[in-house]
Amino acid sequence: MLSLRLWSFSLATHSTLSCSWRRTLFLVPPQKLNNTLSNCSKNLSCYCGEPNKKNGFFPVASDLQSSSSSPKDSPFSGLEDALVSYLFGKKRATDIAHMVWKQVVQKGDTVIDATCGNGFDTLAMLNLVADDYHDGYVYALDIQEDALDNTSLLLEKSLNSNERQLVKLFNICHSKMENVVPRNASVRLVAFNLGYLPGGDKEIITASETTSLALEAAKRILMPGGLISIVVYVGHPGGREELEAVESFATKLCVENWICCKLQMLNRPFGPIPIFFYRR
Ligand SMILES: C[S@@+](CC[C@H](N)C(=O)[O-])C[C@H]1O[C@@H](n2cnc3c(N)ncnc32)[C@H](O)[C@@H]1O
Repeated sequence: MLSLRLWSFSLATHSTLSCSWRRTLFLVPPQKLNNTLSNCSKNLSCYCGEPNKKNGFFPVASDLQSSSSSPKDSPFSGLEDALVSYLFGKKRATDIAHMVWKQVVQKGDTVIDATCGNGFDTLAMLNLVADDYHDGYVYALDIQEDALDNTSLLLEKSLNSNERQLVKLFNICHSKMENVVPRNASVRLVAFNLGYLPGGDKEIITASETTSLALEAAKRILMPGGLISIVVYVGHPGGREELEAVESFATKLCVENWICCKLQMLNRPFGPIPIFFYRR
């Protein structure tokens, strides 16, 4: 539970503790190391240790003045604000998912939107991967033509033609994602936003069986340091079974290689549930 420990620590650092100077220990994923060191050095002093052999994270110790610290001081910039807003009901589950993606996905990455629907997640992913060299790709999948049309329209409105080329749309079940993503692609993120198409036919929904197969496929193609992100809805028929299928999949992910986390509102029995499986 490395990242959870870090999140709760960062929340304490920036939101609740009020003492002045404090030595802070961060555990930083390799891709965030440069940012972290430059932010730390703006404070007092910092020290970077050897990477952990198991997960590749770097221990970074820094003297920080909490009263002047801002989210920029954290290697997970912006995430703590989003989490606090979520706790106070000011952010949606999908906002949290987008913010978590941002901590993992880099320019030039290959990512998969396993349920593209109206295209909002696809667009958010494209904004994370698109770079000047045009080598980041979003593979966006849906079983409904209507969903692909909606996604296309949104992309036409929001992107220039170069960016538009970086999104590959497929009318295919997500359990078949390996048929459309190139074999040699290192996939950083596979995101599922389960349930039915908002504004569409509520009878056409994701199903436990194909969701489980898709999660297995995602596990096979995800690179180390990659993320499977799922927003589960339990308010419609079959939703609860789908949550159970997702949870059962998580129980098979070994703790040495995976960090699995569920953020559930306890007094909103039908509220959406963001779930993250991070591959170390
Ligand atoms: C909640 S919506 C997704 C919302 C979308 N991500 C967005 O940003 O607008 C769920 C989508 O999953 C699609 N879907 C259902 N079963 C699927 C499957 N087996 N493979 C891929 N997509 C599926 C539905 O057609 C629907 O469009």
